[in-house]
Amino acid sequence: MVTVISIGEVIFPTKSTYVARILNFVLLKNLQSLNPFLFRYRHLLLGGLGFVIISNVFTLYPAQIFRLTLDLLESLLYLNRIEENWLGSTTLPQIISMTALLSGVLVLLAALLRGLFLFFTRQTLINMSRHIEYEQKNQLYHHYQQMSRSFFRKYSTGDMMSRISEDVGKVRMYTGPGIMYTINTITLFIMVITTMLMVNVELTLYSIIPLPILCYAIYKVESVVTQKSKHIQEKIADLTAFTQESYSGIRSIKSFVREESLTDLFTKESNSLKEKAMELVKVNALFFPSIIFLIGLSTLITVWIGSEQVIKGTLTTGNIAEFVIYVNLLTWPVASLGWVSTMIQQAGASQARILEFLEQNSELKFPEPATGLTLPPNFYVKLDRVSVRYPETGILALKDISFEIPPGKTIALLGKTGSGKSTIASLILRLMDPDEGEILLDAKPLKQYEKTALRNAIGYVPQDVLLFSETIGENIAFGKPGATSEEIKAAADFAAVLSNILDFPDGFNTIVGEKGVTLSGGQKQRVSLARAIIKKPSLLILDDSLSAVDTKTEDEIHSNILALQQQTNPPSVLLISHRISTVRHADKIIVLSNGKISESGTHAELLEMKGDYWNVNNMQSIEQEVW
Ligand SMILES: Nc1ncnc2c1ncn2[C@@H]1O[C@H](COP(=O)(O)OP(=O)(O)OP(=O)(O)O)[C@@H](O)[C@H]1O
Ligand SMILES: [Mg+2]
Repeated sequence: MVTVISIGEVIFPTKSTYVARILNFVLLKNLQSLNPFLFRYRHLLLGGLGFVIISNVFTLYPAQIFRLTLDLLESLLYLNRIEENWLGSTTLPQIISMTALLSGVLVLLAALLRGLFLFFTRQTLINMSRHIEYEQKNQLYHHYQQMSRSFFRKYSTGDMMSRISEDVGKVRMYTGPGIMYTINTITLFIMVITTMLMVNVELTLYSIIPLPILCYAIYKVESVVTQKSKHIQEKIADLTAFTQESYSGIRSIKSFVREESLTDLFTKESNSLKEKAMELVKVNALFFPSIIFLIGLSTLITVWIGSEQVIKGTLTTGNIAEFVIYVNLLTWPVASLGWVSTMIQQAGASQARILEFLEQNSELKFPEPATGLTLPPNFYVKLDRVSVRYPETGILALKDISFEIPPGKTIALLGKTGSGKSTIASLILRLMDPDEGEILLDAKPLKQYEKTALRNAIGYVPQDVLLFSETIGENIAFGKPGATSEEIKAAADFAAVLSNILDFPDGFNTIVGEKGVTLSGGQKQRVSLARAIIKKPSLLILDDSLSAVDTKTEDEIHSNILALQQQTNPPSVLLISHRISTVRHADKIIVLSNGKISESGTHAELLEMKGDYWNVNNMQSIEQEVW
């Protein structure tokens, strides 16, 4: 993919030059991908353009009013001097004050109208940018939701968060202020220069001489500011990460009595942030005086050259006043050019990062809901010579695995850590596809099943439990949106966590997570089980889900599952564990070792084989006795 930088490098080898930089952002490829958004909000864009032009007309008016007033007063004074009592009974001071008052009122009126149209400009263009920001955020979030697990392994959470917040924010700086200031600068420039040229070509050329110098100076300062701001941003990120880590690891810090040394480290880090910020202040302090100096220079040239023309009789004094105002009007848009160009460049870089995500598609293709297969209440799962290699690590996690889960039966997977148990769960849920072999549901390939139907049919209790920062009730109802409180209660009862929940003062309304109570590991696992069971799945996958639950409660849960399997349309269960006590009652136990099936059978059969299972059984019995 072409990035902003590479466009610069390919087309303009001397990208450090100002011209190259301007052309660069004219050609910013990545920002062109925003054109459909701009087209959609074209009424706001065109409205904004109209308002900018109207507000600029009122920006120019005061200069002309000043000219007329000055010229009028000058002629009055002149006439009064050469012709005695020309004014009759009205006195000169009266006329002067009337004229001044009238021009003052007109200037005020122009300023008010200019302000009004500036307000409309912001209401259209900035509103447009907010609409685009909203759509872009939704687009990215929706895209994230579609991606497969390999995408989430490839990019860190922080990276995804910064693209959806910071990068979208920077793009908004282009669609909002970026476009607004650019339109304003261009239209004002054209209007002012045309007006100036119509008055006097020579004076126009002289008075705009300092502007290119101003442009260059601002561009230079702006690059230094950008550089320094980047350093500050990096420092802030370091400091934030440091603070966050300190607080999430506060228990370790306290237990190792490291508070003092960490405080020292923090002071050092924040001191270096302060120093960087001071450097930026110095540069900024130079910025405004130099602009003021160059504006002053322009004014000086205008008055000097203009006076010569007045003496020659080609200009009036009013024209000089008018020109001084025009030059001042031009300076601020020119001064903001450097800032706007940096803003647009940054937006281009951010849009490139957003596109990098949007252009990636999930490698898992599910059939359309209309054509995909749906699942009956009970189905047969079959893994047929399945092998999986994780591309990121190259680890061959599963080798030639074949087994079946008949409807209503409990199949257990037992194996050491890293033997491939969770990988099998991911395959059945179709969070990933196998490299070789096939998974069949009711003798049809898994790939033919519709996504919602498939995932709704499976109740999955993952190994690493995550509860949302909501109430316990809401966490359970996550499995079945719109579940009644009776259903939530029944699911909690099934997962043997009901009495724990009712012990909390707020019961099911207890908030869990960072802002609420911290549930114990075993409680979390059982809430997670309740969340899976509430949707009445046809296949229940428990991935090491009862590891933090005591044996008595575990037995209670197993008997609940068994009772469920006595009913009509009983669910199948895939039980994953490394504990014999968990799997011993399963209809069939599959022993995994390094991604391969080493043995399989019932508890009794496996003990008779006196193989891996028997060994593990002996070891775990000794452990239990020691306890
Ligand atoms: N996302 C991943 N990327 C790369 N390799 C992975 C990934 N997930 C698992 N693996 C590797 O695949 C192998 C099987 O992992 P898996 O998680 O299936 O084991 P497990 O039997 O569930 O282990 P445990 O009992 O510890 O949960 C391991 O060697 C692991 O390092
Ligand atoms: Mg696992």
